[in-house]
Amino acid sequence: MTISLDAAAIPEAEWVRVCGTGDVADEAAISVDIDGEPVCVARSGGCFYAVADECTHAEVPLSEGDVENGTVECWMHGSRFDLRTGAPTGLPATEPVQVFPVRVDGDDVYVAVKE
Ligand code: FES
Repeated sequence: MTISLDAAAIPEAEWVRVCGTGDVADEAAISVDIDGEPVCVARSGGCFYAVADECTHAEVPLSEGDVENGTVECWMHGSRFDLRTGAPTGLPATEPVQVFPVRVDGDDVYVAVKE
């Protein structure tokens, strides 16, 4: 079982299974819906990440962008977001995307969307 640093304190009931580990290729992303909230589940360097599936510059799904070296690129204008922190690494986006805790348990990937 792999748990991100802040995940151990999250109640079990808040975790949602979003996909299997085999559903996301390395350096790729998929979009999942968690209670009506679109979430981009990405895999980079063998690690899983989850961020809000909408660029902070405009309404573009980040899950449709390229994933590389722990970042996801918005295909519209090219801003990249750090998958660990949500911070943009370049313009035109200036606001971070929301990052969600991820847990991998066996072949299952879980995301917690509540604070
Ligand atoms: S819409 Fe994403 S960078 Fe402009």
